[in-house]
Amino acid sequence: MRIILCGFGIVGQSLVKLLDSRAEDLYAKYGIKPRIVGVFDSGGSATDPSGLDREKLIYVKKKTKSVKDYSKSKNKASGLEIIQNVDADVLIEATTSNYKDAEPGMAHIINAMKRGMHVISVNKGPLALAFPSLMELATYNHVLLRFSGTVGGGTPILNYAKNSLQGERITSFAGILNGTTNYILTNMANGMSFDVALKDAKSKGYVEADESLDLDGLDAAAKLVILANWVMDMKVTLPDIQCTGIRKVDFEDIKKAAKKNCAVKLVASCNKDLIVSPREISLDDPLCVNGTLNAIAFTSEHSGTQTIIGRGAGGMETASSILRDLLDIRKEISRS
Ligand SMILES: NC(=O)c1ccc[n+]([C@@H]2O[C@H](COP(=O)([O-])OP(=O)(O)OC[C@H]3O[C@@H](n4cnc5c(N)ncnc54)[C@H](OP(=O)(O)O)[C@@H]3O)[C@@H](O)[C@H]2O)c1
Repeated sequence: MRIILCGFGIVGQSLVKLLDSRAEDLYAKYGIKPRIVGVFDSGGSATDPSGLDREKLIYVKKKTKSVKDYSKSKNKASGLEIIQNVDADVLIEATTSNYKDAEPGMAHIINAMKRGMHVISVNKGPLALAFPSLMELATYNHVLLRFSGTVGGGTPILNYAKNSLQGERITSFAGILNGTTNYILTNMANGMSFDVALKDAKSKGYVEADESLDLDGLDAAAKLVILANWVMDMKVTLPDIQCTGIRKVDFEDIKKAAKKNCAVKLVASCNKDLIVSPREISLDDPLCVNGTLNAIAFTSEHSGTQTIIGRGAGGMETASSILRDLLDIRKEISRS
């Protein structure tokens, strides 16, 4: 399987390490030999049709900050040039999420599909802004679009709803989908002020470079869009979400909730409407998880409510979701 990897940050590098450590096992168990034939970051690119040396890629990135130094000629080709000129089976999109125009990820995904590549995206931006049309484009080009890592990191939330609850009709769901705001709210419940809790979350590397993505609920809203499309077959995008973040949650709100045996959490829900907002949840509700954990409760017609809890982010966790998608694509291809 020939792969082009867009972005070589935390997730991209974790994926390369994961593929390296699992190489023998992947071949023995699933008969696949993933080969990275092209990779790029914001500084440039590296290509090799017979497969790039994974250890060297990590070493070069660490030493020089860009994969362009992989070869002596310092490959300055842009991402789009790589996608246009390098032959591959799968494109993995792992550049920075952006909810204004979804670039550069949107162009990477569209151009790869037009060239007949299957796509795995951990980048939520393109899906949040254009889920229905990207799915249509994938169908039109006879390729698969997978995105397990966009919701729940390594926790297979999307797979669970789509496959394990197959045959059931999910009527609603509600979840805590952003670990950063959950960490901040948990600390506020333990007596920290918003500002101190935010500073603490930043010092631990939990907050996005653009803090508004976490604090104003955009990250949770993007995940809600993906879930609503994938699980409920809705055709919605980011502007369809009523979104309120946690900036206005104060100590009074936390105290009021505690008196009722509740905690304030940033909840993303799909019932009649699609809403992200701070809400009180009973401490006895399985959804009421603490720290950076994510949780989601699916309510279905006959099976009642089931809650999945897991770590919502992390380089290796997200890389493992990409591997899951790769194996899924491989299975689908061999079926057709
Ligand atoms: N980290 C997680 O736990 C996690 C979990 C789920 C989903 N995600 C999503 O996965 C994606 C990657 O996350 P990450 O944590 O790996 O982020 P990251 O460490 O910031 O890496 C982003 C990568 O994108 C590259 N990039 C940015 N703009 C580019 C451009 N215009 N052209 C080419 N490359 C560009 C960066 O290049 P440089 O290296 O040159 O800066 C970097 O290699 C994001 O969309 C994120 O929301 C992350």
